[in-house]
Amino acid sequence: MKKSITWLYHEYNQVGKDYSLPEEVEMYDARHSDFRDLIKESNAVLDTLGIKKTDILIDFGAGTGTFAIQAALRGAVVYAVDVSPAMLDYAKTKARKAGVSNIEFCHSGFLDFKHTGPAADFITTTFVFHHLPDFWKGIALNRMNHMLKPGGQLFIHDIIIEEYQALENIAALIKKLATASGNFLRRDAEAHFREEFSTYDWVMDGLLSRSGFVIKSKRIENGVMGTYLCTKQLKAS
Ligand SMILES: C[S@@+](CC[C@H](N)C(=O)[O-])C[C@H]1O[C@@H](n2cnc3c(N)ncnc32)[C@H](O)[C@@H]1O
Repeated sequence: MKKSITWLYHEYNQVGKDYSLPEEVEMYDARHSDFRDLIKESNAVLDTLGIKKTDILIDFGAGTGTFAIQAALRGAVVYAVDVSPAMLDYAKTKARKAGVSNIEFCHSGFLDFKHTGPAADFITTTFVFHHLPDFWKGIALNRMNHMLKPGGQLFIHDIIIEEYQALENIAALIKKLATASGNFLRRDAEAHFREEFSTYDWVMDGLLSRSGFVIKSKRIENGVMGTYLCTKQLKAS
């Protein structure tokens, strides 16, 4: 991103939940395992992507690093990008314990990460894209498109909302999370919709195609949980 943009979105300021706090980071894996199996989920995504040894993968919003570590265990060259130094420190320790050294941890974000190596085969981002307002999502997608090699794949998983019965579906999600994990997750989920920037699937569809991606598959589970697999459009010759 050009230095001259003094009005660049402050992506280093956390919105909603504050993942710069060490206490949030320490609790993250335990709290998320109430409703996710982080290792199983990561490997399912890696299987879908068909990651091979030496593939280059950039994971934006790597958090505590579970996905990056699983990718590194398969031999990928991984860039784990996160705006939170506390998350990166935690993930580095986890990677050391897992015995992987093929992860470069980068204190950076969607809007200023500079990928200087060979073009990436894959970009992934899970439960992170909602941290950016929609205009900046578009800027981020354009940047990611430039980091990928032609035909490279982008995987996005996040809370993304279908228009039909949106309010009812959001209420059902909040209820489900509260049932799985009590008031803590209820408060988290409510804050998500109040303060963060989850968007409509039709907005995502437009942003992706205008940024040079072809949507290969799209699933919006229960009207609120979105998974997109996209490829970088090949230039017409
Ligand atoms: C909900 S956690 C998701 C972590 C992990 N991807 C997962 O699936 O569990 C969101 C993470 O995104 C990071 N983050 C927030 N805004 C970001 C940005 N603009 N660029 C990169 N990372 C960001 C936060 O610091 C946090 O670690």
